[in-house]
Amino acid sequence: RKNLVVAIDGYSSCGKSTLAKALAKKLGFIYIDSGAMYRAVTLYFIRNQVNINDPEAVKYALAHIELNFHSRDYQSHITLNGEEVSEEIRLMPVSEKVSEVSANKLVRHEMVRQQQRMGKSKNIVMDGRDIGTKVFEDAQVKLFMTADPKIRAERRFKEMQSKGDTSTTLEEVFENLAHRDYADTTRAESPLTRAQDAIILDNTNITQDEQLQFALSKVQPFL
Ligand code: C5P
Repeated sequence: RKNLVVAIDGYSSCGKSTLAKALAKKLGFIYIDSGAMYRAVTLYFIRNQVNINDPEAVKYALAHIELNFHSRDYQSHITLNGEEVSEEIRLMPVSEKVSEVSANKLVRHEMVRQQQRMGKSKNIVMDGRDIGTKVFEDAQVKLFMTADPKIRAERRFKEMQSKGDTSTTLEEVFENLAHRDYADTTRAESPLTRAQDAIILDNTNITQDEQLQFALSKVQPFL
């Protein structure tokens, strides 16, 4: 492929989006948060009580969902049918249901199609669960991120607190991450797994800047 694609996959709350944003900013690439897409679809399904087990209902819903990214300062601002939903999709009701919705074949098929279109000609950094294994199997750089589950829960909990979301306990965050990791790695449709050619990045004990430098060193040869 002519354009450069950096695929960042890994478990929940490993700092994928933090690294992906920093990397995209540094390189002047477009950042695409694929998880935000599954979250926005989930929000729509919750609001409209879409029956995930009814393929016709799922198809009908997908045909009525329009997602758009508005990249301001490399943050992932996403709109669902024109409505800014970036904050609402991070709340617990969506986090609790997203892995069920994202396991659906029809949902995945449509999201992958849209993601592939977004990365067709531009240089991008995309983070998610199946970017290196499915969406862009031919990505030049693939990173697979992992970190200690307790550290991940603490980081996510602090982030939620700093945003004023005090409705969720640390235990609930830990349980949600464990649940999503389990569901995401065991589902039938493109489960979360490391692509053979992905480089493992365990960030339990390294700083954000060290992660950025590491990732930059992997992209450098392709620039
Ligand atoms: O990245 P984030 O934690 O926001 O993703 C939320 C959920 O969306 C994941 O737990 C997973 O179920 C789903 N997802 C996915 N494939 C992706 C990105 C996210 O299945 N590429």
